[in-house]
Amino acid sequence: MHRGKGMKFVGDSRVPATRMPNIPKDYSEYPHKTEAFWPNFLLREWMVGAVFLIGYLCLTVAHPSPLERVADPTDSGYIPLPDWYFLFLYQLLKYEYAAGDFTVIGAVVMPGIAFGALLLAPFLDRGVERRPIKRPVATSLMLLGVIATIFLTWESVDQHDWEAAARQGAIVEDEIDEDAEGYQIYMSQQACINCHGEQGEGGAAAPNLFESDYSKEEIMDIIINGQGEMPADLFEGSDEELEIMAEWIENDGEAPE
Ligand code: HEC
Repeated sequence: MHRGKGMKFVGDSRVPATRMPNIPKDYSEYPHKTEAFWPNFLLREWMVGAVFLIGYLCLTVAHPSPLERVADPTDSGYIPLPDWYFLFLYQLLKYEYAAGDFTVIGAVVMPGIAFGALLLAPFLDRGVERRPIKRPVATSLMLLGVIATIFLTWESVDQHDWEAAARQGAIVEDEIDEDAEGYQIYMSQQACINCHGEQGEGGAAAPNLFESDYSKEEIMDIIINGQGEMPADLFEGSDEELEIMAEWIENDGEAPE
C-alpha cells in the first residue's frame, strides 16, 4: 500500500469548484513533494517559531519600549504621534480636503474605499490570470496604494518636529520645590505655564526651565526681553517677584538658601 493512500489533496484555489467530475488528486500522486505533518512538519514550525521568539525576547531586552513621562490629561500642548504603521493615515488628515470640515473624507471615506476595495477584490476580480502584468487594473491600483502609503509615511516623518517630541515626552528626574516662593509666583503666570509646563518641565513649545545654566540676571533679561521663540513682556507682577522667580529658576527649582 502506498504511503498516504486515501488522503485527499485539498485547498488549491486554482481548481474551480464547478469542474466536473471534481475528484481531487490523491496524496500519493505527489511523490517527494509531501512530508508527514507529525513530527517532521510540526517540528520545523516549532523551531522557526522558537528562533523568532528568542529573537524578540533579545530585542525587548536590548531595546526596551521608549517610555515618556506620565500622561497629563490637562496638557493641551502635547502633540501625540501614532505608531509608525498608522503614520500614513495620520498624515492624510493634515491635507486640506481630508481635514477640518472634510475630516470625514480623510478619516472614513478614503480609508473605507481603499480597505473596502481590498476586501471585495476577490469578488470584483474573478479572472483566472495570476501574473501581475496580465492584470493591469489590479496591479496599478495596488502600486498606487503602496506608493501613496510610502509617500504619506515619509512625509509625516519628515514634517514631524522630533526635537520637540523628545522634549514634550522627556521624563523629568528632578523634583522641584513646590513650597518655594518662586514656584508660587511661577504658578500665577498662566502664560509661562502654557509653554513651559506646570513643573517648568518644558513641552512642544518651550524647553525645560532648569536645564540650562543661566544666571539670575540672564534669566530676568530673557523674561523681560524674550529670546528666540519666546515673546517678551509676558511677566505679570512686580520687579521683586520677577527677581524671586528668577532666583528660583537659577537654583534649579529649589528655594535659594
Ligand atoms: C510662547 C511660549 C513661551 C512662553 C509663553 C514663555 N516662554 Fe520662556 N521660552 C520659550 C522658548 C521657545 C524658549 C527658548 C528660547 C531660546 O533660547 O531660543 C524659552 C526660554 C525661557 C528661559 C530660558 C531657559 C532655557 O533653558 O533656555 C526662561 C528662564 C524662560 N523661558 C522663562 C519664561 C517665563 C518666566 C515665562 C512667563 C513670563 C515664559 N518663559 C513664557 C517659550 C515661551
